[in-house]
Amino acid sequence: MDSHGNQQQSINQSESLPLTLKWKPFAVYFFSILILLLAISLTFPNSNFYRTQHLKFTFSSHSTLLQTLLGFFTPTEKRKQSSTPKIPISKPPYCVLWMAPLLSGGGYCSEGWSYILALYEHIKNPTFRLAIEQHGDLESLEFWDGLPEYIRSLAFELHQTDCRMNETIVICHSEPGAWNPPLFETLPCPPAAYQNFKAVIGRTMFETDRLNPDHVKRCNRMNYVWVPTEFHVSTFVGSGVDPSKVVKIVQPIDVKFFDPLLYKPFDLASAGNLVLGTPPHNSNAKKFVFLSIFKWEYRKGWDVLLKSYLEEFSEADGVALYMLTNPYHTDRDFGNKIVEFVEHSEIEKPENGWAPIYVIDTHIAQIDLPRMYKAANVFVLPSRGEGWGRPIVEAMAMSLPVIATNWSGPTEFLTEENSYPLLVDRMSEVMEGPFKGHLWAEPSVSKLRVLMRHVMQNIEEAKDKGNKAREDMIRRFSPEIVAKILADSIQIILENS
Ligand SMILES: *[C@@H]1O[C@H](CO)[C@@H](O)[C@H](O)[C@H]1NC(C)=O
Ligand SMILES: *[C@@H]1O[C@H](CO)[C@@H](O)[C@H](O)[C@H]1NC(C)=O
Repeated sequence: MDSHGNQQQSINQSESLPLTLKWKPFAVYFFSILILLLAISLTFPNSNFYRTQHLKFTFSSHSTLLQTLLGFFTPTEKRKQSSTPKIPISKPPYCVLWMAPLLSGGGYCSEGWSYILALYEHIKNPTFRLAIEQHGDLESLEFWDGLPEYIRSLAFELHQTDCRMNETIVICHSEPGAWNPPLFETLPCPPAAYQNFKAVIGRTMFETDRLNPDHVKRCNRMNYVWVPTEFHVSTFVGSGVDPSKVVKIVQPIDVKFFDPLLYKPFDLASAGNLVLGTPPHNSNAKKFVFLSIFKWEYRKGWDVLLKSYLEEFSEADGVALYMLTNPYHTDRDFGNKIVEFVEHSEIEKPENGWAPIYVIDTHIAQIDLPRMYKAANVFVLPSRGEGWGRPIVEAMAMSLPVIATNWSGPTEFLTEENSYPLLVDRMSEVMEGPFKGHLWAEPSVSKLRVLMRHVMQNIEEAKDKGNKAREDMIRRFSPEIVAKILADSIQIILENS
């Protein structure tokens, strides 16, 4: 009852003070996060239970947020009059409302921010104003806390943008299950009937060879579907998405942040836990370092990586494999998972002893990531399927030679000149989860062995490929390039609808 009262109040107030209307729910929202933070830090330092309960509470306030947002969108005469003087004549009427899991961390979140920042920083006289909204996943406090201050204030600023539904292009940047009507509890996207908006765009991607029928239906409800690669254009159209709706919009990479000239290598040895092999006798001895970064899931091909690495190398080779990983619906016990995998495999322990494997499973802040790449000789990811492959692109921007599976999203940017594309043995069936029955790639263990050995023995060639990789990333995916692609696509939609 209380919250209903508050909500009434905020809507009433908003009629005379339009700016507080959007500010208010957002402020309330973060206020509850603040309380949660205090609760966690003061009383329940390790309690996931309280964290979850509070997040649920925060989350359920979405209905208030939604209703207020809709109230906001509904142009009443009174509101229009009061807001008119606040909007300078020169401001373009149109809005692009970007709805994504912007407070959640994870793939769609970082991708969402990379587009928003690209547009904000590189489109000088936009024909539209930019607005944002959290949608599609739970918000994460750790993530919000870790955001730089300027992004946090930008989040508040863009969340206040004043838009009319009929002048707004909505971008639903999330998995199609979150689109209106959502299959789970989230602010629906679009936040009202599809036809109330100027246009609605779905931005999504998958890692297998096809789409589920329900996802196809949801895509076809959109005016447009933006996908990152040619691979997706072909899998979406092949699964039944209307070809006239599917548009390729590649992903930007911050090549100024991921610039090898700006960083000293991270001390990998200090962060890594040795899980296989013996500690080095002489810790100063320079190892040839293979680095892999991924969420711990079968799709990422960690089994292929372990098998290839352990069969190809022994301690005598002077190599080291660092796996920077974090849990994905699993616990953190990666060391045991690796040892167990090796024990149950046919891999024989070399006479010279295992080539060392290190796991880094602590949280590595975004700001330290370039130094991780800088500390490696090669980046390797024998994934079974990728949407885009963000760590691969980051490594390439850092001029690191890359070995990655030549299938799915990464075929958009892997070439013989800029990397070591890993051949696929065959396609295999996805055995569990929501994509069960789809196909994805089985990267070749024997070819991966050959490539890892080859890179070690051809360091100059590998460096040349790394340099070419950075050139390609700058030329094709730097934020100003992608901002232009985005702005042009938005312009075409504004002119056509
Ligand atoms: C949107 O609706 C408002 C109010 O009904 C109207 O004044 C405005 O011209 C419309 N904009 C467009 C682009 O149709
Ligand atoms: C990688 O895959 C693409 C797309 O299937 C193909 O055109 C290309 O030749 C492949 N590259 C290598 C090195 O196999």
